[in-house]
Amino acid sequence: MTSDDALVPELVEVARTVALEAGRLAHEGRPDDLAVAATKSSPQDVVTEMDVAVERLLRRRLAELRPGDGVLGEEGDDVAGSTGLTWVVDPIDGTTNYLYGLPAWSVSVAVVRDDAPRPDPLTWTVLAACVHAPAEGRTFVAGRGLGAQELVHRDGDVPAHGRRLRVRPAVPLADSLVATGFGYRAGRRASQARVLTELLPRVRDIRRAGSAALDLCTLAAGRVDLFYERGLQPWDLAAGSLVASEAGARVSGLRGRPADSAMTVAGPAGTADALVALLEAAEADAED
Ligand code: IPD
Repeated sequence: MTSDDALVPELVEVARTVALEAGRLAHEGRPDDLAVAATKSSPQDVVTEMDVAVERLLRRRLAELRPGDGVLGEEGDDVAGSTGLTWVVDPIDGTTNYLYGLPAWSVSVAVVRDDAPRPDPLTWTVLAACVHAPAEGRTFVAGRGLGAQELVHRDGDVPAHGRRLRVRPAVPLADSLVATGFGYRAGRRASQARVLTELLPRVRDIRRAGSAALDLCTLAAGRVDLFYERGLQPWDLAAGSLVASEAGARVSGLRGRPADSAMTVAGPAGTADALVALLEAAEADAED
């Protein structure tokens, strides 16, 4: 047992605690007249005042509960730590859904160990994760080596324990329900559309829910067979990837690479292999 293994239960509890507090602020504090506060990579890539407020709360609480750890978040500057552990947070993953009042958004909180100066999915080890979806009434938690659970809310309360998660058994690609997502830049979307035209005739169907962190948890819960997306940022990927892998998914990139922004593919090994092969043949990771 490594010293990190011994720390994992405590880290899961911190992830859960801060994700629930952040989710309460986002869910109960959402103004009826919520508007776009700023845009990022394109006019379609929006930030609301609540993304900023929720990330501020996450950073304040993590500094109280885990002083010395670093923070990498979607809406703020990187904070370097002294412990080798970094919290990778997305205050609202699925901001477009949140803006429109659709329920598929989540607070995504993970903690990773990485010796690199800036934690990177190519080199990090994710130790603990919580993906909290208050509007959907579901919370997902995972600890490295401890499995993943789905906590179904009862009257708005999140129970301490839930159902242990397992991905669906592998099936042929033709019988697979595949979740995916799209980036915000027009050029990226054009190449993602091209790949989709190759994939759609070869699978059961496609789902685009709007929160990559939740997509990975939906896969872990056995509600889709596969997930893939190009362009995920570290905070979109960190927590969901641990929930998925602890539920038995293989989470990878293409051409033998780990999952990262170039490509993330998740699913039971047999089916994921077939999707990886199709995406490689379609050059889904080509420059766009
Ligand atoms: C987005 C969501 C979406 C995915 C995009 C992400 P955001 O995150 O996860 O499902 O397709 O690639 O950027 O911007 O809502 O935090």
